[in-house]
Amino acid sequence: MNSRLRLVVAAFFLTASLFAQSPATSLTSDSIYDKNCAKCHGKTAEGRHFGGPSLVTSKLSADETKAIITNGKGRMPKYAGKLTDEQITALAAEIKALSATPQK
Ligand code: HEC
Repeated sequence: MNSRLRLVVAAFFLTASLFAQSPATSLTSDSIYDKNCAKCHGKTAEGRHFGGPSLVTSKLSADETKAIITNGKGRMPKYAGKLTDEQITALAAEIKALSATPQK
């Protein structure tokens, strides 16, 4: 292996390990989502048939999303008192980020 190729391979593994260690910033890697929401909205947040709707395709604003998580709606439980305002704000931002990503 020449030294240039070796450098490219090293750079690849360095980049890969940096990504692997990045903190939970996406909805589906957030442990709060996993514990409280995934049972209804699914591990990938694409919704579950008898649970909750897809959050990936949600069209709500961050404020509307926050209001639904705080106060609940229909069979969606309210999380006021169960999660802090900061946690709910973070979840709403993560849902917005996810639903803003173009879907295939
Ligand atoms: C017991 C099942 C259940 C759990 C647990 C649950 N949800 Fe829901 N969720 C629902 C249902 C059902 C709806 C649809 C409510 C309606 O429109 O009548 C919903 C709706 C929503 C919506 C609105 C989506 C839209 O575009 O209209 C958001 C946002 C949401 N849930 C986020 C969450 C988050 C975040 C959590 C965890 C903190 C969570 N949900 C936990 C069942 C659940």
